[in-house]
Amino acid sequence: MVAAATAALVGRQRDIEVVAAALAAGRSVLLEGPPGTGKTTLLRALATGAGVGLVLVEGNAELSPGRLVGHHDPSRLLSEGYRDETFVAGPLLEAMTAGSLLYVEELNRVPEETLNVLLGVLSERRAQVPRFGEVVAAPTFRLVAAMNPFDAVGTGRITPALYDRTCRVAVGYQSEQEERAIVARVDTGASDLIDVAVRAVRTTRHHPDLRTGSSVRGAIDIVAVAGALRAIRPDGRDVGLDAALTALSGRVTVREGSARSVEEVIAEIWESVSAAPPEDDQPGKATGPAHRLLPEGDRTATGRHL
Ligand SMILES: Nc1ncnc2c1ncn2[C@@H]1O[C@H](COP(=O)(O)OP(=O)(O)O)[C@@H](O)[C@H]1O
Ligand SMILES: [Mg+2]
Repeated sequence: MVAAATAALVGRQRDIEVVAAALAAGRSVLLEGPPGTGKTTLLRALATGAGVGLVLVEGNAELSPGRLVGHHDPSRLLSEGYRDETFVAGPLLEAMTAGSLLYVEELNRVPEETLNVLLGVLSERRAQVPRFGEVVAAPTFRLVAAMNPFDAVGTGRITPALYDRTCRVAVGYQSEQEERAIVARVDTGASDLIDVAVRAVRTTRHHPDLRTGSSVRGAIDIVAVAGALRAIRPDGRDVGLDAALTALSGRVTVREGSARSVEEVIAEIWESVSAAPPEDDQPGKATGPAHRLLPEGDRTATGRHL
């Protein structure tokens, strides 16, 4: 189980081990961390390694108890009435019966009444489904929920009751070196731009004009778009800058009160990281005009210190 995840991920060994241990001990797990920190990749690899299925559910305001648990097919209901055969299992029942991992992303966006259904299943390992009956979880069923603790939507609603029934693992941003390795593994489009792309996205996480920064997904996209852009634009003019604007301008958001546009901020970041030598090559502190913009340790995607 652990070996499969170690092979699939760059770094994250400690996180892999503790999540695997909690699941092996029969516990449910809450993964807390910003987007793009490998939570889904980690879970998928652990499920594959353990030979159990993974049922993935995206948490949002539309995830009603009926969608999560299942419902009676309305058209068949009319002609056949409430029968077990008219019941369409939702992801929760599917995972409980098959003994799969149920992975709920963005848990903090899930409506209260749906959270309560999950709470019940966590306590009892069984669900009472109206007009269908009781469903008992297979022994390998586990719930893993993920959330961004700094999500602007619905944060703070996760009740102490839920925390009390799960084990929590906090997942932070990878190191710069690991993020370079992740980009190199996912896409090698313009591989010469990996270093700069990673430094650019890391800079967005603590730039004074930005409220939300980019995850490593932004760097992956810069490298991919730049590679494709080179094929379209043979003279190579502004390929990195245009790829950065395309990959990042929808991902980052400008802080309220800032007079600058998102494009101006990204262009400034791109220029400064392109001009500066890689951080690893600098023996001491960075000097020069780019210093203010160099990554200075991990903050969250919203720009706040952890
Ligand atoms: N530690 C890692 N090892 C390998 N790939 C990673 C790692 N972290 C992130 N990635 C890559 O970054 C992208 C986002 O990862 P993902 O697991 O979806 O993050 P999350 O679920 O935390 O939002 C994926 O393309 C994934 O392949
Ligand atoms: Mg995810």
